[in-house]
Amino acid sequence: MSMVTAPAPGLPLDRPKKAPLDPPPEFARLRDEQPITRVSIWDGRLTPWLVTRWADARAVLGNRAFSSEDSLPGFPNLRPGMPPSPPGALQAHDAPVHTTMRRALTREFIVKRIDELRPSIRETADRLIDDMTALDGPVDLVEHLALPLPTLVACDLLGVPYEDHPFFQDKANTLVDNSSTAEQVETAERSIAEYLLNLLLLRRSRPCGDLMSRLARKVDGASITDDDAAELAAFLLLAGHETTANMIALSTITLLQHPDQIPRLFIGPEETALAVEELLRFVTVIQAGLRRRALEDVTVGGVTIRAGEGVIIPLNVANRDPDAFPEPDRLDLGRPNARRHVNFGYGVHQCLGQSLARAELQIMLPAIFRRLPGLRVTAPIEDLPYKEASIYGVHRLPVTW
Ligand code: HEM
Repeated sequence: MSMVTAPAPGLPLDRPKKAPLDPPPEFARLRDEQPITRVSIWDGRLTPWLVTRWADARAVLGNRAFSSEDSLPGFPNLRPGMPPSPPGALQAHDAPVHTTMRRALTREFIVKRIDELRPSIRETADRLIDDMTALDGPVDLVEHLALPLPTLVACDLLGVPYEDHPFFQDKANTLVDNSSTAEQVETAERSIAEYLLNLLLLRRSRPCGDLMSRLARKVDGASITDDDAAELAAFLLLAGHETTANMIALSTITLLQHPDQIPRLFIGPEETALAVEELLRFVTVIQAGLRRRALEDVTVGGVTIRAGEGVIIPLNVANRDPDAFPEPDRLDLGRPNARRHVNFGYGVHQCLGQSLARAELQIMLPAIFRRLPGLRVTAPIEDLPYKEASIYGVHRLPVTW
């Protein structure tokens, strides 16, 4: 007797037309009925496991038997034949490379150091809002607020001189602009890496109190090269750029859809922080899911994942798991356990820049709604140009106030 097995379904990608900020509904069905199941990617050439429950997502991400090395055969990359990530992309490496790189940076992102950056983040946010409101609306909030804030903050963090900020903004914008050609993107990446290498060398001869000066000192005494350190700095800039920008834009839309909850942003610092955690949970911009490959046989949620098999973990689905978050599709800026979201991943690769991202959102979102109480989007939310990229967002957000 022969058994016919149904082919694995594709990765659900379509979001509801009327609710474009919600994850594809098919995911919720899978989470209820087959929480760990195979999906088909690369035209059926690879069938990695899809892990949709919050608890299982943490079990995979917290287990070092699941590798992040995206050059391994069978790693469920977004597309077949993708070049392996460069040495500076620490999220794509396992120990010991990952450990050395991460150790070189951990102290830069501790809460105390990020708190020292808050006054300048506030100043930048206010200046951007001043500049935007000096224009006649409607204007694009993505171009004027969401994209420049993370770039300018990353420049401050790295110690990029003020006069070079426009260069950085220009290159960073080329990277996220969907009309950029592959060649333009490559040139922008190379210019950023070259610039940061020169800055590193300059800071070695003339140190000041910034991240690049400290990184230059660490390179002297550690096993990473100047090139690796410059790439690491470039990765920091890029890792925080599009993620934070899209969070600002999509959170603004979400808050405008729930105007009764906006006052919670202003009650006090703890309430603002909790509100931002709920927005991080609800919006979850990383839509392509985190990806791993098993190094040995591991059982998760009763399913054995064999060595060499790939795993995809869509964080937006885990963050809407009713077993972890009651009434998960309801936005509740006072949700007591919102901080348990996995928006920043989990385990050894958990987002290094999360304190910085939180600070930017905790400052920018209340500033937008305090300064622009009449803010409104000038196009129907369903018709905005949403990104079909691995990080979800809007290309443009036309607003007036
Ligand atoms: C809302 C904004 C952000 C989101 C949603 C986000 C999300 C994430 C996620 C999910 C990971 C884990 C990747 C994995 O496990 O494979 C990660 C890693 C990382 N993020 Fe973020 N991130 C944000 C902002 C930032 C910022 C502002 C920075 C730095 C300036 C940053 C730097 C990094 C770095 C360096 C890693 C790699 C950590 C490692 O592999 O050890 N991120 N981020």
